Order: sequence, then C-alpha cells, then structure tokens
Amino acid sequence: MRILRFLRSSVKDIDYYSKFSPSPLSMKQFLDFGSENACEKTSFAFLRQELPVRLANIMKEINLLPDNLLRTPSVKLVQGWYMQSFQDILEFKDKNADDEKVTYDFTDAVIKVRNRHNDVIPTMAQGVVEYKEAYGTDPVVSQNVQYFFDRFYMSRISIRMLLNQHTLLFGGKVKVNPAHPKHIGSIDPNCRVSAVIKDAYENARNLCDRYYMNSPELVLEEFKASPITVVYVPSHLYHMVFELFKNAMRATMELYGDAMEYPPIHAQVALGTEDLTVKVSDRGGGVPLRKIDRLFTYTYSTAPRPSIDGARAAPLAGYGYGLPISRLYARYFQGDLKLYSLEGYGTDAVIYIRALSTESIERLPVYNKSAWKHYKMIQEADDWCIPSKEPKDMTTFRSF
Ligand SMILES: Nc1ncnc2c1ncn2[C@@H]1O[C@H](COP(=O)(O)OP(=O)(O)O)[C@@H](O)[C@H]1O
Ligand SMILES: [Mg+2]
Repeated sequence: MRILRFLRSSVKDIDYYSKFSPSPLSMKQFLDFGSENACEKTSFAFLRQELPVRLANIMKEINLLPDNLLRTPSVKLVQGWYMQSFQDILEFKDKNADDEKVTYDFTDAVIKVRNRHNDVIPTMAQGVVEYKEAYGTDPVVSQNVQYFFDRFYMSRISIRMLLNQHTLLFGGKVKVNPAHPKHIGSIDPNCRVSAVIKDAYENARNLCDRYYMNSPELVLEEFKASPITVVYVPSHLYHMVFELFKNAMRATMELYGDAMEYPPIHAQVALGTEDLTVKVSDRGGGVPLRKIDRLFTYTYSTAPRPSIDGARAAPLAGYGYGLPISRLYARYFQGDLKLYSLEGYGTDAVIYIRALSTESIERLPVYNKSAWKHYKMIQEADDWCIPSKEPKDMTTFRSF
C-alpha cells in the first residue's frame, strides 16, 4: 500500500514538474552564480526547482520509448535512478532556505544524485544491446532511439553541469579549487584552448602508443594573437578533442600499417567575432559521404567491441559513442561538431564554439507536443524517388 501511494504521488509530481520548461543558463549566469556575492542559498533555491523540472521533462520522454526497450533490466535500472533522484531533490521543496542544516543536507543530496548517475551511459547502451539482441533492428525504432539518446544525453550533460557547479562551489570547505584558483566551478573564464588540445593529444597518444607501438605527431597552429582563450568548460573541450584525436590516430595507424612514418595530425585553432573553431585533420583515408551521418549514431563503430570485463586500460575505440557524445558537448553551449571527409585521403573534424560568453547558452530539450510527435510518428513513404537498380526497359517508351 505504502509503495503504491509513494508511486502515485511521484507520478503526479513528475506530471506537475514536466509542465515547466527547463530554464537555460548562459555562461555568464553560471559565472555570476559562482562569483563573490553568490551564495549557496540562491543556488539551492534555484536548483530545488530546476532539477525536478529537468528530471521530470526527460523522465516523461523515457516513457515514450518502445515498450520492449523499457522492459529491459538496464533501462528499468536507469529509470529507477531517475525516480530516486527526483524524490531526493523534492524532499527539499518546502524546507527553509535560511537553515544552514538544510542547505548543507541539500549539497549532500546533490553529491549523492551525481554519483548515482555515473553509469547512465553504459547502462543505457547495454539496454539497447539487450533490446537489439532480442528484437532485432527496425528503422522506426532506430530513429526514435537516436532522437531520444541525443536528447537524453544532452539533458544529462546539463543536469550534471548544474550538480557539478553546486558541489564544486559549495561542497568543499573552501570555494576555491586549489589546482585551478581562477576557475568558477568547472568553468575557466580564460580557458587556453591550445593547452587543452595538447593535453588531450598527449593522452590520446599514450593510448595509441600502447595499441600500435607508435603514433602520429601533432602540428598545432593558432590563428590570431595567441594564446586564444575562451570562457568555457575545459573538461568539455578536452572530451571533444580527445575523442577526435583518438579517431584521427586510429585512422592514420590503420591506413599506414607498419610504415615507420606517419603523416602528422594537424590541429588548427581560429578565433573570429562569433566562432572559435578547432579543426583536427588527419590523413587516415577518410570516410565516404554516404557513411558520415552514420558515424554519429549511437553504437556505430568499426572497431571491435572492447571487453566490458573489468576496468582495464581504456580502449582507443569501440563503443561508437565518441562522436555523438562529443557533438552534444559542442551543441550544449550552442556550438557544433562536424566531419568533412575526403575519401581516399583524410578527414577534417571541426568543433565550433561560441566566441562570446553571452551567446553560450545551454541548449536543452523540452518535453512537449512536438517532442511527443517524434515518437508517435509512423514512418511514411519517402518523398524522394528510389533509384531502381534494374536497367529500365526502354522498349516500353518506343512510339509505334
Ligand atoms: N578521423 C576519422 N577517419 C576515419 N574514420 C573515422 C574517423 N573518425 C571516426 N571514424 C569512424 O567513425 C566511427 C565512429 O567513431 P566514434 O563515434 O568515435 O566511435 P569509436 O571510435 O568508438 O568507433 C569509427 O569507428 C570510425 O569508423
Ligand atoms: Mg572514437
């Protein structure tokens, strides 16, 4: 009985909070939250409303996944985590923000929520694997899953951003991170792009050396008075370039095999009035245009699947999540990530970041009628002709 009542009340709460749209924050607002006069109380008051809204919006969307996918143990597990975290935050709904014990407990709850959701990505991926093994693939489901994952993982990135800012700013005894005293939570107001690129390259190179006993060099160029800096989350930038370097290295090493010399990977950084652009170019043979879109689908990889047994060395490739998740990081603050390939030669991967922090505003999914329609859409006939593979019998056109 109690469990039933608990469930019923939470369903009502989810309905209630899902009717609010999430409030996107700009980089500037994130900075203000963390500046001198920002206090834990303000952050608490904002988060106890905003976190349930973001959680509820995406929980509604999880429910629109195909029933058989929802029934997999992995997806159920993830749903359970979301439900629990939603409840944990809702506990603070009517608590007194002036009570220090309350804000202290809240920060504790926020840390618990963050840790609970650490494994969401591999667990959801496992759910899709289970589903595919049992039911095979069908184009409508694949399209829905792709649409869902882009939104679900974007929502997750945004929720973790909020959780991280709060815990980094108020979780410890001191507000300042001793390793990065100038950072505001996870944001670096003067993020040196080239430094992050070099760091990511070195780490990707270590992995590459381990697999191939060798690795391509890096040629890094900056256009504009260096060093180019931007207000950004260095860990997001690192994630993107690290993935691009791993891909570029793998393509290069696979193409050149045992040659002892490899064409270097070029990284270029440019700053304009609107965009900060990072281009990573390799000469690893490229990808045909027909396949480019496919590279951004979840679970597409040409690498052998790494074994999941245990925490051995991180693999260089194989989950197929590198590109789609990196593109989400780029899009999260209104940027983008694109791949341009010259098949037979190599690939340019380009990251676009907003140069102005006032333009870097969270891009968040919202649960509404148009989102709902995406899942309910039945596949209609293509509105472009399908070229026939058979040679046409021209005799039918002959005039007698
Ligand atoms: N620079 C590149 N050159 C050639 N192929 C690439 C490149 N980057 C990505 N790919 C292709 O895209 C696929 C997906 O990449 P990614 O999403 O990073 O997943 P993973 O690296 O785990 O396979 C790779 O398996 C590879 O086939
Ligand atoms: Mg990869």
